[in-house]
Amino acid sequence: MIEQCRNVDLQNYIDRMTQDEKIAQLLQLAAPFFEGANEGGQITGPMASLGITDEMVQGAGSVLGLAGAEEVIAVQKAHLAKNRHGIPLLVMADIVHGFKTIFPVPLAIGCSWDLELAEKSAEIAAREAAVSGVHVTFAPMVDLVRDPRWGRVMESTGEDPYLNSEFARAFVRGFQGQNLQGDKMRVAACVKHFAAYGLSEGGRDYNTVDLSERQLREYYLPAYKAALDEGCEMVMTSFNTVDGVPSTGNRKLMRELLREEWGFDGVIISDWGAVKELIPHGVAEDEAEAAYRAIQAGVDIEMMTSCYVHYLPRLIQEGLVEEKLVDEAVMRILELKMKLGLFDEPLRGADPKAEQEIVFCEEHRLASRELAAKSCVLLKNDGVLPLGKHQKIALIGPLASSGDILGPWSWSGSQEDAVRLDEAMRSYVGSSRLIVTQGCGLESSIEGQMERAVAAAREADVIVLALGEDSEWSGEAGCRSDIRLPQAQLDLISWLKPLGKPMVAVLFNGRPLDLHGVFGETNAVLEAWYPGSEGGAAVSDILFGEVNPSGKLTMSIPYSVGQIPVYYNHFNTGRPKDAPDAQVRYVSQYLDIPNEPLLPFGYGLSYTSFAYSGLTLSSETMTEKEPITVRVTVTNTGSCAGEEVVQLYVRDWSGDVVRPLKELKGWTKVFLQPGEKAEVAFTLCEKQLRYHHANLQYKSDTGRFTVFVGTNSRDAAGAEFRLEK
Ligand code: BGC
Repeated sequence: MIEQCRNVDLQNYIDRMTQDEKIAQLLQLAAPFFEGANEGGQITGPMASLGITDEMVQGAGSVLGLAGAEEVIAVQKAHLAKNRHGIPLLVMADIVHGFKTIFPVPLAIGCSWDLELAEKSAEIAAREAAVSGVHVTFAPMVDLVRDPRWGRVMESTGEDPYLNSEFARAFVRGFQGQNLQGDKMRVAACVKHFAAYGLSEGGRDYNTVDLSERQLREYYLPAYKAALDEGCEMVMTSFNTVDGVPSTGNRKLMRELLREEWGFDGVIISDWGAVKELIPHGVAEDEAEAAYRAIQAGVDIEMMTSCYVHYLPRLIQEGLVEEKLVDEAVMRILELKMKLGLFDEPLRGADPKAEQEIVFCEEHRLASRELAAKSCVLLKNDGVLPLGKHQKIALIGPLASSGDILGPWSWSGSQEDAVRLDEAMRSYVGSSRLIVTQGCGLESSIEGQMERAVAAAREADVIVLALGEDSEWSGEAGCRSDIRLPQAQLDLISWLKPLGKPMVAVLFNGRPLDLHGVFGETNAVLEAWYPGSEGGAAVSDILFGEVNPSGKLTMSIPYSVGQIPVYYNHFNTGRPKDAPDAQVRYVSQYLDIPNEPLLPFGYGLSYTSFAYSGLTLSSETMTEKEPITVRVTVTNTGSCAGEEVVQLYVRDWSGDVVRPLKELKGWTKVFLQPGEKAEVAFTLCEKQLRYHHANLQYKSDTGRFTVFVGTNSRDAAGAEFRLEK
């Protein structure tokens, strides 16, 4: 319902507030600080004694991790009763891939290459969160990721700046809609983590990030910018340093880039505890200095530490911080409250009755199932898939009957509600055709289980292995140095292999894994990621051919951990391994493993096959005014209907600085019946060839280019053109 909201005289509020009241607006505390608050909120990071008084809690501008209509209503009412200006509390929470209806993790959503469904997932998440009383979500996370050891890759859509930008926009549209003020079923979005958190050294969380400004602008910033261009209301800082300065105290990133250069006038929030972390980082001696650095750099809201409330009054009194900075921050926070309509309706969407009806409803679960099936990536298939309903199946593995398929950041979702794989497969083939056994634990063998697995497999025509990671092994602080499956799971495969029965591995995990011991040993591999509430059903839809897989990787699957970071849009080097005149030894290579990942960006199989033919360009010359049209014919050459993600890449052969071997510039999805063909056309223009030069100017170069169109970033036919002035 779209309603007009009155404009509130915010300056009048600020004029009437005491300095302490204003500073309290900049404080964000977690739900347990508020009386009777929901205990279920996930609390991360150190919650040391903050020295928070009741008064500070009463004056706090926002709360984090509170949800549930009745709870929010109670907290808001209590807050307003005590707040002498009647300024409502902002309720924020991490609604990352669903609220109660959990969608696949964002890395999986990226693999759908489906912006419409991504937007819909965010819209549904917003709707469920809004009726449960949430106003702002800490999403989308759009950090570009290249290192699967980092547990947080599951929160991102992957390694490509263009694809990440498109998803960033889709998520923001879904969360916020067109009219945040009038539409109580939407929530404000907060893009995170600004900036370049995805580059944490060694894939270890919270670690140093150091990169050139050119690289920052070229690869890491575009997705944050895209989210803001789409109207995203808030930005969250990251935990890492950028060029030696922690993001949360980084003036250059916030005041100069976000505010001055990009003109962002929304609220900037620190990440959890990140203001105080300026001390261990080593750029502040104490909390007072941490507060000083953060406010000067541009942080409006301090999440979960109390440096502002304790030290800003003194810093202002000593003339070290201008009160104006606090006023500006308060104004931005009040503006957001006004935009959300909270001054008129402090309870906003919170509605216990609607909550009952909407949250986890059939329609939402169906949407989750659809997106989950589109997010699965078929990595290998020698013909064993799809399974026949007449086959006798042994479903074996630690995740066969597990509800741990929601993935990290699904704190309001419930594993009990998740559709498990065994239950969904049973609904396809009935109990008599499905034998289910665990085989082993996620990390350890269990006495007698291997023998039981072998016995079950002997009875069956085909073995389906449900393998993967515990959801605690990825997400925040979920980093691993060895990203193979644990030995117990690899042993399970070794025990079953000698039976000679066809084996299908279904993987539930939060990162691209090193698939040694899995990929070569099995007949088919389906990467299901963490597929969410309807995960078992979506995977079964694929296993039994009800849905033809169409997902494609948005993050390379490494050959092994030694080649990380490995990503498709890398540079050629001066000594490329595959050059016609390459030497045997003195080339850029590993002596013991290939340079290429096991499976590249854009890769994913279908139950049908697609042939690409007739790549043509409308002209061999492009100019600023004359784009070219790239055409290709895609034919479904297999025997079932299927969807293909047709991908467009470009290579710039000679730049001001070195250019990637390929860069994604577009994609389109085509659905084709067997034998059907479609002509796909892309328009490519000069703007899309621009990049940051050595002096940071964003422009294109004239000269030679190749455009590639194909089924993934490796297998794509090319045609040349020249860009002329
Ligand atoms: C995470 C953020 C999250 C915040 C609030 C932090 O630990 O890094 O992504 O939004 O907690 O829960």
